[in-house]
Amino acid sequence: MFETRPLNGAFGVEITGGLDVLTPLTPAQIAEIDRLMDENALVLIRNQPMDVDQQLTWTRQFGPLDQGFKKVIAKGSTPQKYDEVGDISNLSKDGQVAARTDKRILNNIANQLWHSDSSFQKPAAKYSMLHSVRNPSWGGETEYTDLRAAYDALPDRMKDFLDGKIAEHFALHSRFLLGDDSYSTEQIAAIPPAHWPVVRENPATGRKHLFIGVHARSIEGMTVPEGRMILMDLLEHATQPQFIYRHEWEVGDTLIWDNRQTLHRGRHYDLDEPRELRRTTTLDDRAPELEMAS
Ligand SMILES: [Fe+2]
Repeated sequence: MFETRPLNGAFGVEITGGLDVLTPLTPAQIAEIDRLMDENALVLIRNQPMDVDQQLTWTRQFGPLDQGFKKVIAKGSTPQKYDEVGDISNLSKDGQVAARTDKRILNNIANQLWHSDSSFQKPAAKYSMLHSVRNPSWGGETEYTDLRAAYDALPDRMKDFLDGKIAEHFALHSRFLLGDDSYSTEQIAAIPPAHWPVVRENPATGRKHLFIGVHARSIEGMTVPEGRMILMDLLEHATQPQFIYRHEWEVGDTLIWDNRQTLHRGRHYDLDEPRELRRTTTLDDRAPELEMAS
C-alpha cells in the first residue's frame, strides 16, 4: 500500500510513497500505519508540511489526543493556541526567542533527558508526532532508542528479576533532577504518579520491551536507592549506540514514534536561534495495564 524503506539507524521505517498527509486516510491505510508502528516503532514522513490545524486533523485519525505535561505546567505559556499541541520550540508567546529564564526553556532542557511522553499518567501516550517547522543551524536532533532490542539483549537473570516489577513514574522527577522545584502544592497534586510494569508487551505483536525513562523514579517493593539504581542501570543499557536512531530534522518532516516501545531525547542546540517543532500525541487508551490499579 505504501512504499517504505528502512531508516538509516538501528530501527524505524520511512514512508516514501503512496501517502498524502492532507488527504483523509482510509481505515485500511490507518491499519497499515498501525502495523508499521507496531513492527518498526518509528515511522518517518518527509517533505509534507502541515499547519497546526492540519496536524491536529491528521493526528486525530489515530485516537484521542493527549495534553500530557502541558495540562498543568505549561498551559497558556506558548505561542500555540491549542492545549493539544506540544510546542517544542524556544519561542515565547510573542513569537520571539524566549529568555533563558523562561519556563519554556526548562521544558526544552528536560526534553533532552531520555523519556517516554506522558509515562507519568494513565493512560500514557501512544503515538507522538513531531512536525518540523523551523530548525537551528546546528544541533537539535532527536534520538530514539529501541526498548524491544534493549530488552532482548538483557541477561536472562535480569529478565527474571524484572518479571512482575512495577515502577513509579512521576512527571516532576525530571524537573527536580534539573534543580527546578518551583511548583505549587496544587500543581504537584494535579499530576499524581502512575505505575507501570518495567517490562511490558506490545499486545499487537506479543513482543516484550522495557518501559523506563527519566520519569521512572522508584520500583515498588524495593528501597528508593536500590530501585532507582536499577532504573539508571537499565537506562544506561537501553541507550547504547546499537539501539539508537538519530534524526536530523528537515522542514516538513513528521516523525511518528511509539511511546510504548521507544524512548527519545532532544539534543543540544543554540538556544539563541529560533527552533520550532510541533508535537501532537495520541493516548494509549487501550493499554492492557489500564485494568490495573493506578
Ligand atoms: Fe518527548
